[in-house]
Amino acid sequence: MILHSYAKVNLYLAVLARRKDGFHNLTTLFERINLADTIILKRRTDNRITITCRNKAVPLDASNLCYKSARLLREKCHVKEGLGIEIIKRIPVGAGLGGGSSNAAAVLVGLNTLWELGLTKKKLASFAAMIGSDVPFFVHDTPFAKAEGRGEKIRALGALDRVRLWHILVVPGIHVSTPSIYKAWDMRKIRRKRRLTTAVPDVTITASALRRGDFPGSGLLFNNLEPVTIELYPEVGIIKEKLLSSGAQDAVMSGSGSAVFGIAGSRQEASRIKARLSDEGGSWRTFVVRTI
Ligand code: C5P
Repeated sequence: MILHSYAKVNLYLAVLARRKDGFHNLTTLFERINLADTIILKRRTDNRITITCRNKAVPLDASNLCYKSARLLREKCHVKEGLGIEIIKRIPVGAGLGGGSSNAAAVLVGLNTLWELGLTKKKLASFAAMIGSDVPFFVHDTPFAKAEGRGEKIRALGALDRVRLWHILVVPGIHVSTPSIYKAWDMRKIRRKRRLTTAVPDVTITASALRRGDFPGSGLLFNNLEPVTIELYPEVGIIKEKLLSSGAQDAVMSGSGSAVFGIAGSRQEASRIKARLSDEGGSWRTFVVRTI
């Protein structure tokens, strides 16, 4: 079974309070983009779960999110079969693009068919939340969704079904650890407690602008993890500035970074901006991507 596993960006990400369980409540606006890995699922005659992937940054052991998905479904649904999972990686790792989460969701959805489990989307989404905060979004099969809680409470934005955005996506050669950014966010918050914090804009403003077709526009993208990651990795801030000075209508970091994406009005405009950027630092990977 061959599956496409798309990446995401966060058009809006407001991290709120730290919870007792260590996670943070947040509000986010996910967009699925047409940068994808391929996942190949093969039945095995023994009862092992194996992972193969040529990208050295992807773990091949039980810490791999695809492995966790397969093991969880096997336990919950009393399946005895083994499984071979091959991952063909195109989504940069440690970049805030949700690659691992998307792969995990693809395995859940794929195995529901391959193993004829008959699980509802709701059930699959509840299993997805056990694997990771971003996994339920990918199970929902929607281009845009608002998420709350720790990211697992998804509301598909059906009104945006026909909206298609063009982006220039820039990924520096920096592998960002999500927990370390959340930790730094906590520290920063403690440091600044007595100072006035900047107001968090409302996610509905961004969503309504999209619905009305007012996108691209500036000031609608938001991510309050961005200053935290930039403090640790100034290159992320340089990319954002370069995107804006090269003609992007707006630009923001995705998730906890390190990827930054800009908004363009068309594929041609995105390509022009990408061409201007390609002349810069040698370790950046740049892509023109759109909503899917
Ligand atoms: O859920 P996931 O495994 O993707 O989360 C990775 C890490 O990111 C968590 O262990 C936690 O440190 C941080 N996180 C968080 N609050 C969220 C999502 C992630 O603190 N809502």
